[in-house]
Amino acid sequence: MKRIKAIYPGSFDPPTNGHLDLIERGSKIFDELVVAILRNPEKDPLFSLSDRRQMLESMTAGFDNVSVDTFHGLTVDYALRVEAQAILRGIRAISDYEYELQMALMNRKLQPGLETVFMMPAEKYSYLSSRLVREVAELGGSIDCLVPELVAQKLREKMDVAHKFTAADAADRQEAELKAAERMTRESVTSERAIAERGASERRTKPRKRKS
Ligand code: PNS
Repeated sequence: MKRIKAIYPGSFDPPTNGHLDLIERGSKIFDELVVAILRNPEKDPLFSLSDRRQMLESMTAGFDNVSVDTFHGLTVDYALRVEAQAILRGIRAISDYEYELQMALMNRKLQPGLETVFMMPAEKYSYLSSRLVREVAELGGSIDCLVPELVAQKLREKMDVAHKFTAADAADRQEAELKAAERMTRESVTSERAIAERGASERRTKPRKRKS
């Protein structure tokens, strides 16, 4: 019997419970599923590729037919390289549809033999995205139930480092501003003194007008 292998490509920055939900669903209908993290040099991700790989490996450790890999370039080329027959993508809401349709049709144009299969994650994750998780975490909101505990932990570590940096930057900036203000005060006192002294010396050396 023909075995069907699929890839699940994405940025996963960070992976969420919505991704995990889709991986679980995909693992039930495909014989093999490769979670493929895009290496995109143009993007500046919050998590390094190795961090994302580690998180996804730990999240998918319980699935026998799921593996994690990274790729760059076209998704269809990667799919061909690993001999996958399908691309798995999630659709959460109508707003995803247009972009996903465009991508699926472009991928079909590039590689007609490759099918895109859309699956819906559980309703409770329909509002969930990596971007929102990053934003909520950055602003100190709770990300419980949105990401697996390991991801939450990594996010907290990132935010702690970022906050420490911000606090250290603020302290450095304050010190620099204070020093600049002191320097300006010193310079202005010196120049006022110099002007006063020059004035006094000019008055002393100026020849008196002869009375006619
Ligand atoms: O998780 P994301 O960011 O929505 O994933 C988007 C991804 C990685 C699937 C898409 O950007 C992609 O396939 N990029 C690889 C380059 C490519 O194949 N581009 C043409 C797609 S039509």
